[in-house]
Amino acid sequence: MSSAYLQCIEESCGKRPAPRDEETTCAQCGGLFEVRYEFEPFDVEALRRAWHQRRLSGEPIDRSGVWRFRELIPFVEPGDRVISLSEGSTPMVGTRRAGWWAGPIHLTIKHQGNNPTGSFKDLGMTACITRAVARGVKMVACASTGNTSSSMAAYAARAGLKALLFVPYRQISAAKLAQALDFGATVVEVGDTFDQAFKLLREIAPEMGLYLVNSINPFRIEGQKTIVVEMMEQRAWRPPDFIVVPGGNLGNASAIGKGLRELKEMGFIAKVPRVVVVQAEGANPFYRLMRDGDAELRPVEKPSTEATAIRIGKPANWKKARRVLEWTGGLAESVTDEEIFEAKTLLAEDGVGCEPASAATVAGIRKLVRAGKIERHADVVAVLTGNQLKDTEYVMRHSAASEANPQRLSVEPTLEALRAALSKHDLVPA
Ligand code: F0G
Repeated sequence: MSSAYLQCIEESCGKRPAPRDEETTCAQCGGLFEVRYEFEPFDVEALRRAWHQRRLSGEPIDRSGVWRFRELIPFVEPGDRVISLSEGSTPMVGTRRAGWWAGPIHLTIKHQGNNPTGSFKDLGMTACITRAVARGVKMVACASTGNTSSSMAAYAARAGLKALLFVPYRQISAAKLAQALDFGATVVEVGDTFDQAFKLLREIAPEMGLYLVNSINPFRIEGQKTIVVEMMEQRAWRPPDFIVVPGGNLGNASAIGKGLRELKEMGFIAKVPRVVVVQAEGANPFYRLMRDGDAELRPVEKPSTEATAIRIGKPANWKKARRVLEWTGGLAESVTDEEIFEAKTLLAEDGVGCEPASAATVAGIRKLVRAGKIERHADVVAVLTGNQLKDTEYVMRHSAASEANPQRLSVEPTLEALRAALSKHDLVPA
């Protein structure tokens, strides 16, 4: 049997918490924990075949794109209840226009918007809520820019736990808020930024006995890392040159890097793709950290971007993410809201919808190709983190009905007026 333990990531500390200790922050040094394993020896080929075989199984645990790879997340004890909504198993979709526009490169989309609550957060949440239930937790909490909230609310409902969300006042999309309410969570609007809400939650959690499921919870990272296992399986275990993600609190980049490292160490892949983190210009402290080679992150006090999911000025996982860029020879990039909009439009031309934060990936790739940091014709996977329907206000704002917008016409309800309008705008088949 493989075994799991937690360890503080700070090299000068390395504390291993006792079983009843808090699991998100090291009491000794304030650092983050990560889950480490003593893996039993693997037969790589046999495991690949077993994972493949499970795709044909009707068992809920096998149908989950996280738990199908359970040998790589062996922190669940026999008898533990696994809280799953059949997350993962998301598609890989090739692109034409977006790949041409951003490169030319071979651009494939790994679409995490096809998850039960519409974002990549479900991969981490199934792992984290499973852990919470095993620990006897009755109530979970998070601060969020929206997607973590929807996901936590769904998995908490499934597990029969109370869910408490802290969100910045009027700063998250209506669709995400509605999901959380629909799943029965309690929503506390507090502060002007995610960072403020998150700081308050971290301060109040210990005295209120709240179990945090933000990505500082190391079990979130374990669930999220399975995205690369699934991705490599979908690619017949041939790694791409680059894997590109948008960066907010930097849990996803940390998880992807950890997953890749473990896959390489265990012999599932022969080379490690370079991990690229793309941030929005108004919320890009990690990009600046990497660009300037600073020792410490300098937070952005008033983060701003229309991509509300990644409007974060002080990412909690920056040390883990920096380690990932170092391990993989990765890159960080920063893009404007205009560039994000353009990339989102190009993806839509390929029939691929996503929320704005996700499109930052493709905007970042374009910049990096232009700068010669990603080679033309490179094999690149962009992780689209959230579904198109997560932020419809964004699309509606950008396509307001006006005389100048031939996509949204307002016409008198008469045949003459309709005939005139359709002819004027060339809306007749050639
Ligand atoms: N893309 C989307 C759609 C997100 O919702 C997030 C983060 C990110 C990218 C960034 O991922 O934090 O792992 O670097 N959303 C969090 C939330 C913060 O609360 O939903 P990250």
